[in-house]
Amino acid sequence: MTPYEGYVYAYPHKTAYRPLDPRPALSEVWAGERAGALYVHIPFCEMRCGFCNLFTRTGAPEGLTGAYLDALERQARAVRAALDGPRFTTAAFGGGTPTYLDARELTRLFDLTEQTMGVGLREIPLSVETSPATATPDRLAVLAERGASRISIGVQSFVDAEARAAVRPQKRAEVEAALDAIRASGIATLNIDLIYGIDGQTPDSWRHSLEAALTWRPEELYLYPLYVRPLTGLGRQDRAWDDQRMELYRLGRDHLLDAGYDQVSMRMFRLPGPPGPPGPPGTTESADYCCQTDGMVGLGCGARSYTSALHHSFEYAVGARHVRTIIDDYVRRDDFGVANVGFALDEEERRRRHLIQSLLRTEGLSRDLYRSRFGTDVLDDYPLLERFPGWLTADASTVRPTPDGLAHSDAIGPALFSPRVRALMEGYAAC
Ligand SMILES: C[S@@+](CC[C@H](N)C(=O)[O-])C[C@H]1O[C@@H](n2cnc3c(N)ncnc32)[C@H](O)[C@@H]1O
Ligand code: SF4
Repeated sequence: MTPYEGYVYAYPHKTAYRPLDPRPALSEVWAGERAGALYVHIPFCEMRCGFCNLFTRTGAPEGLTGAYLDALERQARAVRAALDGPRFTTAAFGGGTPTYLDARELTRLFDLTEQTMGVGLREIPLSVETSPATATPDRLAVLAERGASRISIGVQSFVDAEARAAVRPQKRAEVEAALDAIRASGIATLNIDLIYGIDGQTPDSWRHSLEAALTWRPEELYLYPLYVRPLTGLGRQDRAWDDQRMELYRLGRDHLLDAGYDQVSMRMFRLPGPPGPPGPPGTTESADYCCQTDGMVGLGCGARSYTSALHHSFEYAVGARHVRTIIDDYVRRDDFGVANVGFALDEEERRRRHLIQSLLRTEGLSRDLYRSRFGTDVLDDYPLLERFPGWLTADASTVRPTPDGLAHSDAIGPALFSPRVRALMEGYAAC
């Protein structure tokens, strides 16, 4: 079994969503639900990295980003009207690359989120994703001034040749200038994303990237194993690659632990006691897993929204032609008061979601919290210890991954998908 079956950053994956017929009104979907997290998706990038299968497009024609912000504003108005007393406690702007927007457009993004959506971004933690080419002082000034508390930058590698091998042509000097500008902006939490398992990467070159990242003493680091998926620019799948990624994972983990970082999950490391919650909302790494009953509101055409009973979004695609069509449809849309595509969660799926999103963190799953939510003991519901010997341990209060279990998070997570989710994901026709 490969240790790299799949990254479960949220359960279920969007490939398990299907068109909703009839499309329910958002006011019904959100009745009695508490909207606690806001996620705004900006689906634009200056280049398409070879490994990336996120929902994003490059080469946006003149005027498209402005039309996108117009649509976001229309959506924000409709969604706000449908929500039942939202109390947002955390927010994120993700992508794509939100800082693909210029400083003026970013100001508009903040304005519409605050005024039309009614979210006080200065009062709650706000995380924003950026990239080396777009983390410019003028944009960062807007983010800092308007209340961003966390900024996450994809560096992937500090070795130019490795960045090229990952089809992410960037220069080390540009990366360093971006990091310099981020630190100068005064945004409290800096996260750096690095990738291991790139063609030509060695333990020495990986150590070199880790050391280069550590010179910035980032409050957080995400170490991602490289994945190559259908419809992305790279293609590779073999045992030797699994072994390379596992070796580099162990090296990276030990390097960061030695440097004083805590391990939050397989991918996430953070300095002890930095300000703000870790990670973006709605993901396995984020702290909000403990209040999983809270809903997440997604704005933008690639964003998901979660209530306790329904996860919903717009259509999903990776291939450039389909992404373009979906964005073009979104900017023309006016019917933002309904849910389009989604997955309905019954009690069994809620248990699985709670299980999958809590178990793969170093601190593990609280048996009391699970019992208070579902009325049963998690180990009666799922024979976890027999199923994953050596990878999970349990005491009276917690089920948690062992160090070897954390290393195999990407095998454990997918193995816990329900038969229904698995069948839907397998039936998804990639486009
Ligand atoms: C939205 S991007 C980060 C922000 C920005 N767009 C950038 O690339 O600089 C999220 C991160 O996911 C990681 N990622 C995306 N696709 C991946 C893949 N196929 N394998 C490993 N990591 C991946 C990368 O580290 C990337 O920085
Ligand atoms: S890694 Fe970041 S910059 Fe590259 S295509 Fe994906 S979202 Fe865009």
